[in-house]
Amino acid sequence: MKNSIGTDHRLCVAPMMEWTDRHCRVFLRCLTQRTLLYTEMVHCGAVVHGDAERHLGHDAIEHPLALQLGGSIPDELAAAARVAESFGYDEINLNVGCPSERVSAGRFGACLMAEPELVRDCVGAMIEAVSVPITVKSRIGIDDRDSYEELAGFVATVAQSGCKTFIIHARKALLSGLSPKQNREIPPLEHDRVMRLKSDFPDLEIILNGGVQSIGEALSHLDHVNGVMIGRAAYQDPWLLRDADRCIFGGGSGPSSRHAVVNSMLPYIDSKCRAGVPLARITRHMLGLFNGVPGARSWRRYLSEQGSRVDAGVETVLAAAELVADPAVSGHAEVRSADPAPTLQGDAMGTVITKHMSTGPVAGKS
Ligand SMILES: Cc1cc2nc3c(=O)[nH]c(=O)nc-3n(C[C@H](O)[C@H](O)[C@H](O)COP(=O)(O)O)c2cc1C
Repeated sequence: MKNSIGTDHRLCVAPMMEWTDRHCRVFLRCLTQRTLLYTEMVHCGAVVHGDAERHLGHDAIEHPLALQLGGSIPDELAAAARVAESFGYDEINLNVGCPSERVSAGRFGACLMAEPELVRDCVGAMIEAVSVPITVKSRIGIDDRDSYEELAGFVATVAQSGCKTFIIHARKALLSGLSPKQNREIPPLEHDRVMRLKSDFPDLEIILNGGVQSIGEALSHLDHVNGVMIGRAAYQDPWLLRDADRCIFGGGSGPSSRHAVVNSMLPYIDSKCRAGVPLARITRHMLGLFNGVPGARSWRRYLSEQGSRVDAGVETVLAAAELVADPAVSGHAEVRSADPAPTLQGDAMGTVITKHMSTGPVAGKS
């Protein structure tokens, strides 16, 4: 049957609106090569009728990369999936978990959990349209449709389409009365339901999402499910991803220090700033990099205050990095030469790094 399990879901970073944009994803790639990254949700209508390049454009280094679509019209989702495939995405995921009132009013997101046959038809149309894997991300239930039996019924019905991978945010969603943020905090986490799904549907790939705070925690869940998706923790404390390749995927090594991550970003930042992208649009995703390290507040403050200047660029980032120590290493000079941005190089990019290596502006406070 079409729709193989093509992508490695052992560890994923969640789709997060306004957060996991292309700049964020490039940054996360400086921490982990193998974790599957998801875009923000894009409505299929925007892909089909709008500026596809604006919504789907990304850098080659972001792979493995999944696009998340919202929508509920099978033909439109199929058309969007075709466009997405032509952009080279490794997977296309359908959002059946967003609880926002605006989204529900448009009949997509979490409200679709009440219409499993429609979701099946949407996914079926997408599977027919493309050869990349189609996956679904849902909650464990909505409103009073929150029994395990209803969740299992939803999964069984949608699986009839050929969908093999289900990412389950282990909270139900309340479609009125709670904001999306409250809907990520107030309904209790029920990881056991996701694990039960895995034992009831052994042939499906079940990915657990919700409340996972560390790579160690993700590893322990992997005894019970096929994969783990981390959202807020990975964004707010991205350094946790440095162990992902080694500990979850059993290969590769993460960056040796946070300053090495900063260095890895410099070529990208330089090229984007030269192309007119405001620095702050990139560095806002990097503010959490030094969390818990002496000087982290100075790093955040400097980038927040100086990053929006019209002339802000690589030098601004380097100056911010000077304000913070890096406890992962004893000598920053060593780190600078040890991590020359394996995925971000290109001739022009290499030049920027070399320049900054020789002038030593990322030395930090040792
Ligand atoms: C700022 C923000 C935006 C989000 N946007 C989306 C989205 O576009 N699509 C989606 O499926 N989930 C979205 N989510 C939910 C996350 O993907 C994830 O399911 C949720 O945060 C629970 O995982 P966590 O506890 O690891 O953060 C968003 C979460 C946050 C914090």
